[in-house]
Amino acid sequence: MSRVVVTGRIPDAAIEKLRAEHEVDAWTGPEAISREELLRRVAGADAIVSLLTERVDAELLDAAGPQLKVVANVAVGYDNIDVPACTERGIVATNTPGVLTEATADIAFGLILMATRRLGEGERLIRSGQPWKWGMFFLLGSSLQGKTLGIVGMGGIGQATARRAKAFGMDVVYQSRSGIDPKIAAELDAQRVDLDELLAVSDVVSLHCPYGPATHHLIGAEQLAAMKNSAFLVNTARGPIVDEDALAAALREGAIAGAGLDVYEHEPRVHPGLLELDNVALLPHLGSATVETRTAMAMLAADNALAVLSGEQPPAAIS
Ligand code: GLV
Repeated sequence: MSRVVVTGRIPDAAIEKLRAEHEVDAWTGPEAISREELLRRVAGADAIVSLLTERVDAELLDAAGPQLKVVANVAVGYDNIDVPACTERGIVATNTPGVLTEATADIAFGLILMATRRLGEGERLIRSGQPWKWGMFFLLGSSLQGKTLGIVGMGGIGQATARRAKAFGMDVVYQSRSGIDPKIAAELDAQRVDLDELLAVSDVVSLHCPYGPATHHLIGAEQLAAMKNSAFLVNTARGPIVDEDALAAALREGAIAGAGLDVYEHEPRVHPGLLELDNVALLPHLGSATVETRTAMAMLAADNALAVLSGEQPPAAIS
């Protein structure tokens, strides 16, 4: 029997699955676990099941001890994990790709609609109690049909967002470091372009790349200035891909028309300049937030941890 430390609340089904084979110590407090408590609890762990809110770095791995075999993140993004530090110590790091693809693409498209059709503004107006009535020029937005969606990062979530865009009558261009299966590109009728061209031709730019040193502030003042004044930026990937100071300035000055964000540079803090603006739709990191998806993510993380603990190849190893 091994010791599994779970760093936050996850669906019961996954805890039960882990508990059927191992001793499980799961943090169930109403607040996120404090760093101090986390460092204390991981001591002696053979597996850590982590949430994206916990930083898994050398200090934490060393606090766990040399018996630690696996860090199973309950997220597809793993910028919270120091993967080289895991590799150096012979620890397998895993994530949860695939199971949150559709849910996250739904939120990306939700934000595209919120931003282009001014849905948040409409909702805020009704709730404010201010008088309103239908008007020919009242809260006009922009149509999506015949417009171009530029997808930055064409993995599973980018492709799922592209499929939704096609159903809405949009054209799709994408930027991808590794390219995609030509059959899928043909099916989606999506053209591969470089980032400069994507920014210049897109009416909506949606970010779906992982976050790391190569994508830190990938979208800054220069990239925002390269977008059309009528264009929208949507981010459901990771906050620091966008320079929020530059985004707030671009939205304020009309360099772009609007934005939709599910993630933030200094999450959970939201840039005060964004909070003041009406032309940005703001969601609290809901990309994978459905009962079905979170359950599937937790089950996959449990499967990853269980596989490594029994000396098998996990379904979703990062390294
Ligand atoms: C959510 O943001 C994830 O990376 O799974």
